[in-house]
This record gives sequence, C-alpha cells and structure tokens, in this order.
Amino acid sequence: MKTAVLKSIIPGALALLLAMPAAQAQEAAAKPNVVILATGGTIAGAGASAANSATYTAAKVGIDQLIAGVPELSQLANVRGEQVMQIASESITNDNLLQLGRRVAELADSKDVDGIVITHGTDTLEETAYFLNLVEKTDKPIIVVGSMRPGTAMSADGMLNLYNAVAVAGSKEARGKGVLVTMNDEIQSGRDVSKMMNIKTEAFKSPWGPLGMVVEGKSYWFRLPAKRHTMDSEFDIKNIKSLPNVGIAYSYGNVDDTAYKALAQNGAKAIIHVGTGNGSVSSRVVPTLQELRKDGVQIIRSSHVNNGGFVLRNAEQPDDKYDWVVAHDLNPQKARILAMVALTKTQDSKELQRMFWEY
Ligand code: DGL
Repeated sequence: MKTAVLKSIIPGALALLLAMPAAQAQEAAAKPNVVILATGGTIAGAGASAANSATYTAAKVGIDQLIAGVPELSQLANVRGEQVMQIASESITNDNLLQLGRRVAELADSKDVDGIVITHGTDTLEETAYFLNLVEKTDKPIIVVGSMRPGTAMSADGMLNLYNAVAVAGSKEARGKGVLVTMNDEIQSGRDVSKMMNIKTEAFKSPWGPLGMVVEGKSYWFRLPAKRHTMDSEFDIKNIKSLPNVGIAYSYGNVDDTAYKALAQNGAKAIIHVGTGNGSVSSRVVPTLQELRKDGVQIIRSSHVNNGGFVLRNAEQPDDKYDWVVAHDLNPQKARILAMVALTKTQDSKELQRMFWEY
C-alpha cells in the first residue's frame, strides 16, 4: 500500500521539483533587483544589551547579517549586498565619498540593477545623500538609510528603515525623484533632509517637509523635489577626480578671525561661514574675510539657525560689494558638499552663486 501511495505521488512531487527552478525564476523575474551597499553606522551597530538603545558600537555588523536579519526583504526584491566600507560615519572622508559615488554609478549603469540602497551612519548621512544627489547621472532610485538604534536594542528602528528603503528602491514611482532617505516611515529628499536630533527615531527632518511616506512596503508621494539633481545636474561623479578642501567656521558672540585664518592657511579653497541668523558676520571678522576673498578664497555665508536657515544676498552683508556667496537654505555641512562639487567646475563666484540657487 505504502509503495503504491508513494508511486502515485512521486511523479507529481518530481514534476513539482523539476518545475521549481522555472517557477522561482519566474518569481525572481517579477521582482526588482536591488543592491544594498553597506558603509557602517548604527544600523550596523551592536550594544551589550537590549536596553542599550544609545550606548553601543557602530559599524560592527556585516551586510550579509543585516540582510539575513530582515528575511521579508526577499518578498520585495531580489536583494544582494556589498560591504563598501565599515565605518562610523563621523569618520567619513572625501575619498570615501568618491569611492561610494563611483560604485553607485557603476551599479546604476548596470541593466541588472533597478535600485540601490546605501546603509550609512546617521551623523553624516545627509552629506552623503546630498553629494550623490548632485553627482549620480541616473534616474534609478538611490536610497540612503540608517538607524538611530542598533539592531540589538529593543524597538530597534533599523530593520523597518531597511525594509522601507528596499521597498522604495524597487518601486518605479521613486524613479527620477533624486536621492532619497527613508527614516521613521518618511521619504525625505536627500537634498533637504538633516539630522535634527540625536536621540530619537524621528531624528531626520526636512525644513520643507518630507516627499512621502512608506507604509507596509508601499510608498505614498505628496510632493516632488524642486531643485536640480541627478539626471538634471551639471555634475557627474565620472568627471570628478578629487574634491577640493572646503572648511567650515562657526560664528557666535565674541567670535574672532582665528578659525577663518587657520582654514585659509590650511589651504581651504572656500570657507563656509556659519553665521547667526541670516548668515550674519561679526564686524570683528569682516576685514579678514575681505582679505581672504582678495587672496582667492571663496566666502560662502550659511546660517546656524536650525531647521531651515535661509540666507539672502545683500540682506545682512553687502555680498555684491564683497564678492561673497550665500548658501540659500543649505545648512553648513550641505553647503560644504555643494561648494566642493561646484569648485570642481568653476572658480567664478557668480557661477558659484548660480549653483547655490539651483541645487
Ligand atoms: N557614529 C554614528 C554614525 O556612524 C552613529 C550614529 C548613527 O549611525 O545613528 O553616524
């Protein structure tokens, strides 16, 4: 009896087994191909106990383990990972940025890649996202994602952030919207988003609001980026061999010109002045900045006003007369990114100002 029963089911099982690769192949073909480039950060962090949501070591867990930790990714896309680097993002360098940007460009050029996710520390995530927004010549989705808590903590946010990032990276609706950041269920523009607090999962905000939301793997869009990016950008990572030295000097009451002089002596081609209010410059510092400008250093005024400084030309300082540039609504760290990329193309302050209005 047993043999007869076995005989009756084996052909079916065999057929099923034989058909399996074809069915799997069909299923795989129906899903987008998403590559996850891992760089480190808290999303790859580990703490001593589940209660350590803020005390942990960043950049410990490898990309294969991250992917294995979210098996649901395979329902969204055909996912594979590459460990590009394993660093806490406060230590990222211009060379790291170029290395990552070049790998993104190679993958974006591949017809087998539909979307790219970059796992990254949150400290400088906004800088990397903006850099890629300026230099990647593709309309394929590029999503930068991190987490505020390590995967070892209770209510860790990394798994869902990664799931959302892969969902958006695999969606056709995300094409052509520039580099995006998925944190805390929101889809943010890589240009606008900034880490506004360092101890909450809702850390990332854009002064002008998120572009959309992700809910259970589906993205919902409410607005589009207004500034030039990716395919519409005049910058291309393939034409950038190195990034120039651009420094940042923070202003405050009783400030003097020490930091500005030191940055210039260190070879800065541009100095981002982080001014109070509307990028204001202390009267104790103006003469030095005028001298530095005469020596060929670009002076770019930004603001340390949180959540949307907005520096206007000739409002607090005679920018036309001094030949200075204003950073518009870009925070200082993003102003440095644009200044570096812009200086690979021009030394003309009027051209720089155009770029700060447009990107
Ligand atoms: N060391 C910080 C970094 O890698 C940790 C912050 C984080 O990733 O959330 O950016």
